[in-house]
Amino acid sequence: IDPTLDLFAEIEKLKKEKNAVILAHYYQDADIQDIADYIGDSLGLAQQAEKTTADMIVFAGVHFMAETAKILNPSKKVVIPDFQAGCSLSDSCPPPLFKQFKEQHPDHIVISYINCSAGIKALSDVIVTSSNAKVIVDSFPQDQKIIFAPDKNLGAYINKVTGRDMLLWNGACMVHEIFSLEHITKLKMQYPNAKLLAHPECEEPILKIADYVGSTTGILKFSETDDAQEYIVATETGILHQMMKNSPHKTFIPAPPDNGCACNDCPHMKLNTLEKIYLCMKYERPAIHMEETLRLAAKKPIDKMLAISA
Ligand code: 13P
Ligand code: SF4
Repeated sequence: IDPTLDLFAEIEKLKKEKNAVILAHYYQDADIQDIADYIGDSLGLAQQAEKTTADMIVFAGVHFMAETAKILNPSKKVVIPDFQAGCSLSDSCPPPLFKQFKEQHPDHIVISYINCSAGIKALSDVIVTSSNAKVIVDSFPQDQKIIFAPDKNLGAYINKVTGRDMLLWNGACMVHEIFSLEHITKLKMQYPNAKLLAHPECEEPILKIADYVGSTTGILKFSETDDAQEYIVATETGILHQMMKNSPHKTFIPAPPDNGCACNDCPHMKLNTLEKIYLCMKYERPAIHMEETLRLAAKKPIDKMLAISA
């Protein structure tokens, strides 16, 4: 790729030429967020993917998100900047193993977090995201037996706030499970007026001391409307870009992980770059393809979620 190329201009040109739309998750690098047509959390991105009239969806996120876009809008070409951009949480739940687990509990329905493969979605009754999980779980009778997959931290949090005892698959997100309670406690002492904002994929001790728990959109909105001036943010660092943009007078401090790094980046999300966006738009690959039987089976529980969250 020619190093003198103005990637911002070239990508804008390709958007028009190919009638393409760029959907980006908040965990993407700042320059990718800036070139995106829509930035959002998993629910917002799925809703946008379903309703777009563009011919090409460029999904700046991870594989399961692009897959969800294809499931919802199969006539569009869905391209992803890096096919290797997976998700540790999704990988923690292989469909053959989960199928066995499900068969061991035939009296349970399956509620799955959207961070899973199409194969897991096809085995689920309804999909949830971090922004609608409580409402959707609440829509079932209190005595309904439920398997919740794949995130045990989100599942435990939803059990707590709904007073349920859902059976949890033992999966976790490699980014959110490594926040350090010790480092966060020290930061809270250093910034006594700062509020702690946490994503429900974090472990219980972090959620317990958080002032607000919610999806990335929830965290962002809270930081805009709340009256505190300082926030410690326990989710992937990419979200800070929009927070600082929308509330420039406030201070946002990324919560440190326990691996010695100052920030907590998702290695999968961060595989995407502007160069790769340009290339996937130009060559229209890698693209998501899916077998129609699997797509239809995976679509059913997503449609149910979108109907409840409309
Ligand atoms: P949301 O943006 O839907 O809160 O999801 C967070 C996440 O981990 C996505 O991979
Ligand atoms: Fe998966 Fe966690 Fe990365 Fe989100 S932040 S894509 S859940 S590994």
